[in-house]
Amino acid sequence: MNGKQLVLVLATVLALGSLQVAATETSDNKTGEFVATRDWQVISEGQAIPKGLHVRINLQTGLKEAKLLDESERGTALQSQTEESDSEPMALDYKKDVAEAAQRHAKEYVELRKAYKEFQKNFRTDGELIVQLIGQYRNFSKKPLESELKTKLDALENLEFLLHQIDNALVFIDNGGLDDVLLPIVVNDTNTALRVSAMRVLGSLTSNNPKAQIKVFEKSFGSYLSQILMSSTSSAEISSALHAFGALLRKFPLAQTRVLSTSGTQALIRVLRSPDMELRSKGKVVTLISDLVLEKRSVLEGSKDTTDAASSFAQYVLIEFESWLETQGYCTALDDVLAKDFLHLLDQPELVEQFSTAIWTTQSMCHVVWSQSSALRHALLTIRNRYANSKDEYRLEVSQALDNICKRLYDKPKHTELAHNKRKPHHKFH
Ligand SMILES: *[C@@H]1O[C@H](CO)[C@@H](O)[C@H](O)[C@H]1NC(C)=O
Ligand SMILES: *[C@@H]1O[C@H](CO)[C@@H](O)[C@H](O)[C@H]1NC(C)=O
Ligand SMILES: *[C@@H]1O[C@H](CO)[C@@H](O)[C@H](O)[C@H]1NC(C)=O
Repeated sequence: MNGKQLVLVLATVLALGSLQVAATETSDNKTGEFVATRDWQVISEGQAIPKGLHVRINLQTGLKEAKLLDESERGTALQSQTEESDSEPMALDYKKDVAEAAQRHAKEYVELRKAYKEFQKNFRTDGELIVQLIGQYRNFSKKPLESELKTKLDALENLEFLLHQIDNALVFIDNGGLDDVLLPIVVNDTNTALRVSAMRVLGSLTSNNPKAQIKVFEKSFGSYLSQILMSSTSSAEISSALHAFGALLRKFPLAQTRVLSTSGTQALIRVLRSPDMELRSKGKVVTLISDLVLEKRSVLEGSKDTTDAASSFAQYVLIEFESWLETQGYCTALDDVLAKDFLHLLDQPELVEQFSTAIWTTQSMCHVVWSQSSALRHALLTIRNRYANSKDEYRLEVSQALDNICKRLYDKPKHTELAHNKRKPHHKFH
């Protein structure tokens, strides 16, 4: 990731009231007070922080940090404090995925928040607001009416903002929001903008929320999202579908098994193969694939000491994602993307990094195909050489990663190893 982008400074997000990070069952020192200094310090889970600090999310670690405001920032902080002082503390329970989404849409996010604040004035709690929004949706005409479109989109934007919070997402689900708001749009609505918004809501409410993930999975959203990934030609739609798809599957082995063993893997490869799809979407696909492969690997390599670990081990063993990927032609599909599009990648190092991470993660699975592909070799070497001559630190780093990949894929094995392999008896056949 680009060093410059690693840290998202949520300049508008000042500590509103006493900000509480979602408490977990860990035995953190919850009474410990956060003592702010002029330097960024990590806020522990469950730790309350005093008012008026500068808060940010460090995207490298996913942790929240705070420090005293600089002299120049103080005016705005006070202003913002008085403005906010009589409202509920805002939902600042960002987690890593959310933070990443926020980084991507940082500006949009600030806008969303403003619109939400305006709307929220008339309600005492988020829960009331959510119930009201669902009610509003039930009242819309069953036929698509142009006159209702704007109101519908506004309602979905508010939901996208609200449902990042775990409790809010569960209120939405318990009040029938999946059936009455999201399913009809995702499954049947012909308006792309509405489908995009609905899938963003879906992504927001499932991100890092295991209970919500289960409900969303039970409503078959996995296969609806797969269908959209299989058929859509809109980049915006593919992008929001991928976000929701990833949020549903991450850390949820049962859903991974069910969705990826059927149409899910095929849908991902379709996006990768589609000539009309943006490279950015393809980058998202390979990142999701790489993350899921690593997720399984890290569980299987982890300790099996606790009952929890043993049961998730058993679930992850059943995910044969790498074999489904191979069956669907992942290795050649990725090879083709790079061979065909590497010139377009030259000025997009962030994308090159996504692809190289995925290649590194999956190279054992695809070694046979990739090590024999002269087109892939040419693409990788061209980008590597171009970046190696750059003055930009980030490009140099990416170049180094590519160099490691090329060594792994294209350096001839050493003679000693060959000789050793030849001598190795084939136990299998004895
Ligand atoms: C918790 O933090 C407080 C304040 O820093 C400290 O006095 C106390 O000893 C800590 N307790 C534990 C169990 O670490
Ligand atoms: C839905 O429509 C009914 C009947 O017109 C009305 O009484 C109710 O207040 C509406 N609910 C919402 C949430 O707009
Ligand atoms: C989608 O439309 C079909 C046909 O009108 C209908 O039977 C189905 O219930 C709808 N599905 C949802 C989730 O609204």
